[in-house]
Amino acid sequence: MDQRTDSNPYKANSRRNASDLDYMPGFGNDFETEALPGALPQGMNSPQKCAYGLYGEQLSGTAFTAPSHQNERTWCYRIRPSVRHTSRFSKIELPFWKSAPNICEDVISLGQYRWDPVPHSGLDLTWLTGMHTMTTAGDVNTQVGMASHIYLVTKSMEDEYFYSADSELLVVPQEGFLRFCTELGVIELEPGEIAILPRGLVYRVEVIEGPARGFVCENYGQKFELPGRGPIGANCMANRRDFKTPVAHFEDREVVSTLTVKWCGRFHETKIGHSPLDVVAWHGNYAPCKYDLSTYCPIGAVLFDHPDPSIFTVLTAPSGVPGTANIDFVLFRERWMVAENTFRPPWYHKNIMSELMGNIYGQYDAKPQGFVPGGMSLHNMMLPHGPDKNAFEGASNADLKAEKLDNTMSFMFETRFPQQLTEFAAKEAPLQDDYIDCWNTLEKRFDGTPEGTWDKAGKKK
Ligand SMILES: [Fe+2]
Repeated sequence: MDQRTDSNPYKANSRRNASDLDYMPGFGNDFETEALPGALPQGMNSPQKCAYGLYGEQLSGTAFTAPSHQNERTWCYRIRPSVRHTSRFSKIELPFWKSAPNICEDVISLGQYRWDPVPHSGLDLTWLTGMHTMTTAGDVNTQVGMASHIYLVTKSMEDEYFYSADSELLVVPQEGFLRFCTELGVIELEPGEIAILPRGLVYRVEVIEGPARGFVCENYGQKFELPGRGPIGANCMANRRDFKTPVAHFEDREVVSTLTVKWCGRFHETKIGHSPLDVVAWHGNYAPCKYDLSTYCPIGAVLFDHPDPSIFTVLTAPSGVPGTANIDFVLFRERWMVAENTFRPPWYHKNIMSELMGNIYGQYDAKPQGFVPGGMSLHNMMLPHGPDKNAFEGASNADLKAEKLDNTMSFMFETRFPQQLTEFAAKEAPLQDDYIDCWNTLEKRFDGTPEGTWDKAGKKK
């Protein structure tokens, strides 16, 4: 039984246990699963003839020679080999899905930006046509950096499939309920959960309950992994067992289908005569998974001060520089605030990393107003930011008793690379023109005396 308490407003209507889908617990485990008895070879990968007339095929997520602790691959036993799931390609346009480098000359990416939720348009949009890029960073062709997207999805993909050769996708739903039918099994996903879709994985996205809106971090670089916990030890933050990987599920459907491939920032289409989701059994450690954010066990200050926000890292995608992530996925969720004699919200800062935030639900403590569920903000490389006037005054004058921050779940896609705004983000999405003004009314508190302009009651003299 779930003993945790939290205030996820979606929980009351949760469909999480409504279906009879099966998942296997663990992060990066060597899983094995079969949808038909005896379909999975035992003791070897490549028998002379596979059971059920299946084809054996390896899907490699890392180079063959990657170090063993990073090496990821999955053996698939499928109705047809993947080479039968593509034919000749033609290029297609998905005008709102951009890849780095995507630098718009007439857009200024240097600035603190915030957006209201991007509204639904009334158009029928699928996972592909509904993907709207907000920022890009790095270079997709050299497999460094990332893109952030907002998806607005109202329509299921029908006999349509997709894979990204460019990237791994981290999906963060904010509204609606989606089903990801993948080669390696089915994931159903609702707000409060996240999913990881590995590079090269073929899938179709269905809308179970729409419209659906959410955020996607497209990771061009090395895969997401769990951060090192250092002296925290073996537990807390994101625990491995709370990640769920689907069991094998296959389709044997002979129907004209379209497969779209994202490759080097371009979209390519190919026609095939059947569903490519035909993996009957598989084993390996390269697979999609989902994670319930309410199982994230936050660590924080128990006496004074405020740790760096990296204390809230859920997943990290390393770059070549130790400790300097290509992307960190960071979660600001419900938690107790107990620090004594401390300014409790995030402090003012300026740093090398570029921070794109999104609000899944509730109110964020550093910005009591204006940063609303479905909304996003961007604090780019070496641009100062921090609490607004209300948050500063409130926290500076608060009675510092133990306080539960409730009804709050925001996240950050943080990258070592500067994030460039797309045309869509700068000109079409609902940008708040006055966001920068939230710091304008911060007053000078210095008057040459040690107490500044605060009086003994903490108010202005
Ligand atoms: Fe920040």
